[in-house]
Amino acid sequence: MDKYEAYNNIKREQAIKDGVICVCKQVTERKIRKAVKGGAKRFISVKRETEAASGCGLCRPLVEDIMNDELKKA
Ligand code: FES
Repeated sequence: MDKYEAYNNIKREQAIKDGVICVCKQVTERKIRKAVKGGAKRFISVKRETEAASGCGLCRPLVEDIMNDELKKA
């Protein structure tokens, strides 16, 4: 394992521990929930506020699931 790979493994483990949903922009589940609680009710609003799903876009379904869960609580 080279240094680069070792660094990436450490970052990946840390991201899981911190609840990072969007790896590209390092956005946590907590930040997404906070944005929804703060009034962001639509995906585009959460995206604008947190930058979640503004990289590769693969995390979008996860972001939407978290948003829907938070919106159900309201
Ligand atoms: S993982 Fe969220 S945009 Fe790539």
